[in-house]
Amino acid sequence: MSERHQQVEDAVLARRERVNAALPEDLPVQKPEHLYKATRYLLDAGGKRLRPTVLLLVAESLLDVDPLSADYREFPTLDGGRADVMAAALAIEVIQTFTLIHDDIMDDDDLRRGVPAVHKEYDLSTAILAGDTLYSKAFEFLLSTGAADDRTVAANRRLATTCTRICEGQSLDIEFEGRSAVTPDEYLEMVELKTAVLYGASTSIPATLLGADEATVEALYNHGLDVGRAFQIQDDLLDLTTPSEKLGKQRGSDLVEDKQTLVTLHARQQGVDVANLVDTDSVDDVSEAEIDAAVERLREAGSIEYARNRAQELVQSGKENLEVLPDNEARDLLSGIADYLVEREY
Ligand code: IPE
Ligand code: IPE
Ligand code: MG
Ligand code: MG
Ligand code: MG
Repeated sequence: MSERHQQVEDAVLARRERVNAALPEDLPVQKPEHLYKATRYLLDAGGKRLRPTVLLLVAESLLDVDPLSADYREFPTLDGGRADVMAAALAIEVIQTFTLIHDDIMDDDDLRRGVPAVHKEYDLSTAILAGDTLYSKAFEFLLSTGAADDRTVAANRRLATTCTRICEGQSLDIEFEGRSAVTPDEYLEMVELKTAVLYGASTSIPATLLGADEATVEALYNHGLDVGRAFQIQDDLLDLTTPSEKLGKQRGSDLVEDKQTLVTLHARQQGVDVANLVDTDSVDDVSEAEIDAAVERLREAGSIEYARNRAQELVQSGKENLEVLPDNEARDLLSGIADYLVEREY
């Protein structure tokens, strides 16, 4: 592993630990315990915490603070007020976790963050409710930062719009399963909605709360959109290539579910019979050998490389938008994380 890669991993780890320490304080297991245990279950199981990490790094960069010595709950704003940026980071992470719980129901996936999905560990009703609880908690958190009212409204507006967009994207994702083909633009619109907007919220909301100007907020939003698109392309690649134990979710699920990805749409253009790459309808029945053979076909068609190149291009354009931030270590780390999002192996 390169030195820079290690620095990025260490930076994510340090912020993940802060987020994990704050979670039980802000989301205690209270009555009814069954609901709150289910609500905390996936949060406690793991997760990379990439979105709260980028949110915290944007705040650190804007304020030029040394994060690990700062009081992480009370950031000074740019004009002398205070804002609990950690509450905003938690808002993003509980939205992320809510979408995962509901996504696993929709995608019929049984494994998440290395443990049984919530609807498997508990039951469908509990999983729906745990997701809904996390969804509404996010707004409670984002309303509680103590930032000025106009900034609080703007940040909550961004989060609300983001959630609407995620639903639109998830709807397109499912609709595309029944399509014989989609174009790269249709794919990119779908992933912008289902995935990238949450990265955009993560990078823009701290700027809004801290009182950055509109141009800075928008540039950071666009940074999040680009790296978020790249992130989803990499997620699609990892679904093909990374063993389930390392991924913490079932490898090959997208092939079984007939998901449309940049990989499969490119392969189709090259004449690959994508619909019959795997023969089974259930992710429990698909064998490693069958997935390996499918991936080999996709590799030969140049489709893996095609998707990888598109992800790299998005990261490069995303990094340009970081120039609105002060030139400091946190900004360098954000740039390193952008690269990491498409180099990561899980
Ligand atoms: C998975 O996101 C959902 C997608 C948008 C592809 P992550 O890979 O960031 O999942 P966690 O939060 O680390 O579990
Ligand atoms: C997930 O896309 C997007 C959201 C969770 C909103 P995927 O369906 O590819 O995510 P994973 O691979 O199950 O994490
Ligand atoms: Mg899924
Ligand atoms: Mg999905
Ligand atoms: Mg996926």
